[in-house]
Amino acid sequence: MSDPYFQELFAQRIGGVNYGKGTEIYKFEKIKRAKRKALAEHPERKLVDFGIGENDDVADQSVRRVMAQEIGKPQNRGYADNGIQAFKDAAARFMQREFGVPLDPVTEINHCIGTKTALAMLPAVFIDPGDVTLMTVPGYPVACTHTKYYGGEVHGLPLLAENDFLPDLDSIPADIRRRAKLLVINYPNSPTGKAATPEFYAKVVEFARANQIVVAQDATHIMLSYDVPPLSFLQTPGARDVGVEIHSMSKGWNMIGWRLGWFCGNERIVRAIADVKDNCDSDQFIAIQKAAAAALDDPEIPRRVRAKYRRRLEKLVATLRRCGFDCGMPGGSFFLYTRSPRGAASGLKFSSAEAFSQFLITEHSICTVPWDDAGPYLRFSVTYEAPDEAAEDALMVETERRLKQIGPVF
Ligand SMILES: Cc1ncc(COP(=O)(O)O)c(C=O)c1O
Repeated sequence: MSDPYFQELFAQRIGGVNYGKGTEIYKFEKIKRAKRKALAEHPERKLVDFGIGENDDVADQSVRRVMAQEIGKPQNRGYADNGIQAFKDAAARFMQREFGVPLDPVTEINHCIGTKTALAMLPAVFIDPGDVTLMTVPGYPVACTHTKYYGGEVHGLPLLAENDFLPDLDSIPADIRRRAKLLVINYPNSPTGKAATPEFYAKVVEFARANQIVVAQDATHIMLSYDVPPLSFLQTPGARDVGVEIHSMSKGWNMIGWRLGWFCGNERIVRAIADVKDNCDSDQFIAIQKAAAAALDDPEIPRRVRAKYRRRLEKLVATLRRCGFDCGMPGGSFFLYTRSPRGAASGLKFSSAEAFSQFLITEHSICTVPWDDAGPYLRFSVTYEAPDEAAEDALMVETERRLKQIGPVF
């Protein structure tokens, strides 16, 4: 089939004339295909799905009730420009209550349609051709993709076990520091599950000041913090002078599909992102913003979500440890990130986490997400569907049985 006339019109940033012709299959598509194959070839074997990175519950009943009340009100029907004040006020109350961070809800907070969109807009605010964005690897790739769209470069900061999964800021070459404008971090981190410490955040502020770099801390998983109370970057002295933190209603409130979040911190940066945003979207449905404001005012909702995922992670850690994995409780998120085996008791060898993950799904119907960006690791998510604790326990028993059959070798 010949190309349409517009094949030559695609922009270079998405592949130019070659757009749509690549044969490379994206990691998550490979997982989906392997899942379908496992289900088709082994319908008798229950799929044990640790691959999904989305909450398995719906939003709290109280939040759905507010939504039901607000959905038909004529005053909620229209554009909300850059967010209704009631949502920003609720976000300010939340930041004060949970972190002791005072913010001006008019100038230092702005809503976004999920952190994803704010991370996509950030490079438009700072990146010109040749500028550098510093980003942790592995990580959520959206700011990286958009940096490249604007002609910028991305300098990856590997998250390694020997550095406690924190980026080694001292290792960044002088030339890169000079050209760097943005540092994007994400704690609690996805996928490593590492939580930040006050000392690390203090170092980030010092680094940003010394090198005149703006910090964007992606706090999407912040309410899923386990070993210490959730920590905001903005609790760090000086943080507000160097950057912003981006929050999400998705994970901590089971509101993934509702698409709502906010960015907050430095007034000038908040305004700049809001200006770009004003040219990208017309805001989230006001009824959703009102429901989310009610969610933010109830401290018990994220506590319940956290308790559930903590319980599931504890069970998973114990199960994997009994199967030979060297893992511990993550500091945060609903992910367990653990070193992938190099082989199996049968003598099989795995050259990468992806190879082991493909083996796990095709031969044992256990779905995980592999990460090979900074060593071979597997990500187990505890967002699997299980109606009660007995079902969770049964799933763990089955996982242990299948993994012991493999006999992972590290
Ligand atoms: C680290 C990280 N940042 C951002 C997002 C996007 O979150 P949101 O639903 O708020 O757009 C995700 C979602 O998985 C994530 O894991």
